[in-house]
Amino acid sequence: MDQQKITKIKDAVRGNFDASSDRYVAFEEKRGFFRALNAALLSRMQLPERAEILDVGCGTGASSLQLLEAVPQSRVWGLDCSAGMLEAARSRVGGSDRLSFVEGDAARLSEYFTFPFDAIIYSASVFLIPDYRESLSQAADLLKEGGQVGLTFMDGLYDWDGNNLFQRADEVAREGVSLRKPVKMAELQLFFRETFPDHESWNEDFMLPEDVLKEFFSIPAMSAGLFPGIEYSDRVKKVTSLFRHMPTGEILFRWMMMRGQKGR
Ligand SMILES: C[S@@+](CC[C@H](N)C(=O)[O-])C[C@H]1O[C@@H](n2cnc3c(N)ncnc32)[C@H](O)[C@@H]1O
Repeated sequence: MDQQKITKIKDAVRGNFDASSDRYVAFEEKRGFFRALNAALLSRMQLPERAEILDVGCGTGASSLQLLEAVPQSRVWGLDCSAGMLEAARSRVGGSDRLSFVEGDAARLSEYFTFPFDAIIYSASVFLIPDYRESLSQAADLLKEGGQVGLTFMDGLYDWDGNNLFQRADEVAREGVSLRKPVKMAELQLFFRETFPDHESWNEDFMLPEDVLKEFFSIPAMSAGLFPGIEYSDRVKKVTSLFRHMPTGEILFRWMMMRGQKGR
């Protein structure tokens, strides 16, 4: 992908998250979804008692706070490109000498951090980073020997036969949903396996009621993934229309997760 396209995607992502913090916080406080997602990742990571951890794409701080709770003697740095999301993070956390937030780009980790980490996580962020190869390469360099990197990647909504439910719903709704993503999952998996020969990869399936998923995909940044380049009010109308054609009851929301370890 050329640099101009990368910059364009990043500007759009940052703008969409700047406009998302209130709804993001409200959704997370009510549903605790990102917490559940992050817990599934952390359950497979082994973190030392006094870990130094970098949370790339920390957003409103949900994942950073959870890391701090899971490893109370750790020191956590949250990095995000969205000033709006970071403002919410800082106001939730107040002053803590165990948790700091940095505004910046995931592909420039080595400019902001010059000391090694025990763990670097990308919780619900890597699929938004078009130059993830650059970011993950720098993360690998920043890890201590034996340190770990973990990520969660949004895959999609499926029925039991493996059909993509956004595609199915749009065959009827005809809203023009975009199934293209700035980061292709198979390419990311390949790159991750090459970068971290010692790795594991697995799917986490969340069963969520369709109204909760509609709420999730109505967050400004999430609706922009489905309908890029359209005004928010129009995106929400389109999301509502799509969900009229989704199955009712619980729907399978699939995330792909990866954990890699730097060789000793
Ligand atoms: C879905 S949120 C996840 C937030 C958090 N990890 C959580 O679990 O709640 C994704 C975050 O990644 C950030 N992000 C996306 N691309 C980024 C980039 N290139 N550099 C830094 N942060 C980025 C967004 O601004 C957003 O806050």
